[in-house]
Amino acid sequence: MVIAVDGPAASGKGTIARALAKHYGLPHLDTGLLYRAVAANVSRLELDHSIEADAVAACDFDDSLLDDDALRSDEVGKLASVVSAHPLVRASLFHRQRRFAQQPGGAVLDGRDIGTVIAPDATAKLFIRATPTIRAKRRHAELRDRGSTVSMDKVLTDIRARDFRDSTRSAAPLVPANDAALLDTSFLSIEASVQRAIALVEDRRRIKANSGPS
Ligand code: CDP
Repeated sequence: MVIAVDGPAASGKGTIARALAKHYGLPHLDTGLLYRAVAANVSRLELDHSIEADAVAACDFDDSLLDDDALRSDEVGKLASVVSAHPLVRASLFHRQRRFAQQPGGAVLDGRDIGTVIAPDATAKLFIRATPTIRAKRRHAELRDRGSTVSMDKVLTDIRARDFRDSTRSAAPLVPANDAALLDTSFLSIEASVQRAIALVEDRRRIKANSGPS
């Protein structure tokens, strides 16, 4: 079974994807980390994030970079959103993600274009949403826990800018797949969000099983 979990920054998609992977015993890939790794690599090579050829030159990175905690900073997230708008960067990371999705037994992947581009045939597709203010509050608390003193206003402005960039880019914009189940986590606890996500996956599984081979 392949489960695609998409949604904007701090919507809860990562937490839900990890919980689904645990629940179903499936491997999980946070695809945002790949774009974050490219962004960090561009900085390391002292190249320009807004130039496509520079970003492509940074796509060849070692897997060990994915464990680097520095990838999780807000600054790297912002730069990831810049490099991820380049079609050739997306093309360069495509096969890595597709291979992960197609491994025997299945997988859970979270990102922005899993249900639309990486795994269009996924068994279940979830699109996780929450209001910008609530997402900013969550991201602010996360950053504060990691020692950052960034203001709530700045986090909200950044979230809105990132939403705009991610959803208006021409290459794989952030949009729900036509057959995605929408889950708004604005007023749900983590536990309730996860239970709801499992119920939605079970619904999709049942529908697919009943529709049989086409
Ligand atoms: O959790 P958060 O949204 O802050 O960050 P992330 O999921 O690690 O993604 C960082 C950036 O990478 C996003 O703003 C997107 O621009 C980009 N991304 C993407 O384009 N496609 C994906 N499948 C995953 C991330």
